[in-house]
Amino acid sequence: LGTPAQPPLQSIPTNIASLADYASLAREHMEAGAWAHIESGADQQLTLAHNRAAFDQLRLCPQALADLSSAHTRQTLLNEPLHWPVLLAPVAYQRLAHPEGELAAVRAAMAMRTGMVVSTLSSHSLEDIAQAAQSAAQELGRSGPLWFQLYQQASREHTLQLVRRAEAAGYTALMWTVDAHIKRSSYPLPPGVEAVNLRGMPQQRHSADLMSEQILFGTELTRHAPSWDDLVWLRAQTRLPLIVKGVLSPQVAARAAELGADAVVVSNHGGRVLDGAVSPLEVLPAIRAALPGSIPLLMDSGVRLGTDVLKAVAMGASTVMVGRPQMHALAVAGMLGVAHMLHLLRAELELAMAQTGCATLADIGPQLLVSQAFSV
Ligand code: FNR
Repeated sequence: LGTPAQPPLQSIPTNIASLADYASLAREHMEAGAWAHIESGADQQLTLAHNRAAFDQLRLCPQALADLSSAHTRQTLLNEPLHWPVLLAPVAYQRLAHPEGELAAVRAAMAMRTGMVVSTLSSHSLEDIAQAAQSAAQELGRSGPLWFQLYQQASREHTLQLVRRAEAAGYTALMWTVDAHIKRSSYPLPPGVEAVNLRGMPQQRHSADLMSEQILFGTELTRHAPSWDDLVWLRAQTRLPLIVKGVLSPQVAARAAELGADAVVVSNHGGRVLDGAVSPLEVLPAIRAALPGSIPLLMDSGVRLGTDVLKAVAMGASTVMVGRPQMHALAVAGMLGVAHMLHLLRAELELAMAQTGCATLADIGPQLLVSQAFSV
C-alpha cells in the first residue's frame, strides 16, 4: 500500500503556475487507485500520448502589430453568452477527487464565467449541482452554461427520465456521448462514491466483466450501444440543443448535423476508449469543412495550455473542454483549485492571443499555423 493521500488544501499553493503543476501535485492528494483510474488511457496509451503530441507539434506564426486595445474572448455558443472558450468537460465521479466534487467544480466554473457539462455519472445529484450553480450565479452575479451529459441507458424510459430531470433542473443543453459505451474499465468505486442519478435504474454490466466470460458481440452491451435510430429518437424528445460528443469522422459529424444535432464535440474521450484513435486536433479541419458554418464545433482531449486553446480554435474549434485538469485541481484545493486552474488557462489564452496578434476569437485562424503538420 502506498502513502495515504493528503487532504485537500484550504488555499492555493504558491508554487503552482500551470495545469501541469496541478497534475503533479494532485498525485499526492489522491488515493493511488483513483489517481491511476483518472490518469490512464486505454491499452498502450498511444492515443493518450498522441493527444499531447498533436498540440506540441503545431507551431504558431504570430501576426505582429495588431490593434489589441479592445481585445476580448467572448462568443455566443448555442445562443448562450460565453466569456471565454473553455468549458469543464463531463467527468464522472468527482467525489473521487474531493468530497464536494461536482458542487465545487460548478461553483468554480460560475465564478470564472465559464460553464460545466455535468456527467450522467456525477457523484452529487444533477439537481443538487444545478442548485449549487444557481446559488453561485446569484451570489457572484456571474454565470455560464450548465449542460447535462447524457449516457444512454438500457431502456429508453430511463434515458428519457434523465432528460426530463435535466430539463426540470434548468440545464440548457444536452451533450449525448456516443464514444464510450463499449470500453474496458475495471475500477471499483470506493464506498461513498456512486452514480446517484442512476439509483433505481438497472446498471449495465461493463465490457471488462463480460469479456472475462464471453465475447462482446451478441451481448447486451452491443444491443444497447447508441445508434443513429437513437439520435433520431432523442432529437424528437427534447427542445434543448443537442450536442453529440465523441466524433472523429467528418461523415459522422455531417450525418449527425443532418439528423438534428446542434453541435458536435470532436473528442477521443481523453484517449480512454480506442487506443490508436486519431487526435481530435488533427481531424478538426476536415470535420469543420464537412459541417454547415452554423454548427459549432467543440473539442477536447489533451488541452492543457492557453496555446492549446488557440491552436484548437485555429484548427476550427469554437470552444474547447478540459477533463482531467478539473480532477487535479479539485484534489489539490477543491473549488478554489478549480477556479485557479481556470484562471491560469484564461490568463495563458489571453497572453497567447496577444502574442499572436488576435484581438478576438474570430481573428484566430489558419494564418497562425505556418504549415499544418498533419494530413487528415
Ligand atoms: C471522462 N470523460 C467523460 N466523458 C463523458 O462524456 N462522460 C463521463 O462521465 C466522462 N467521465 C470521465 C471520467 C474521467 C476520469 C475522465 C478522465 C474522462 C471524458 C471527458 O469528458 C473528456 O472527453 C476528456 O477527459 C478530455 O480529455 P482530457 O482533457 O482529460 O485530456
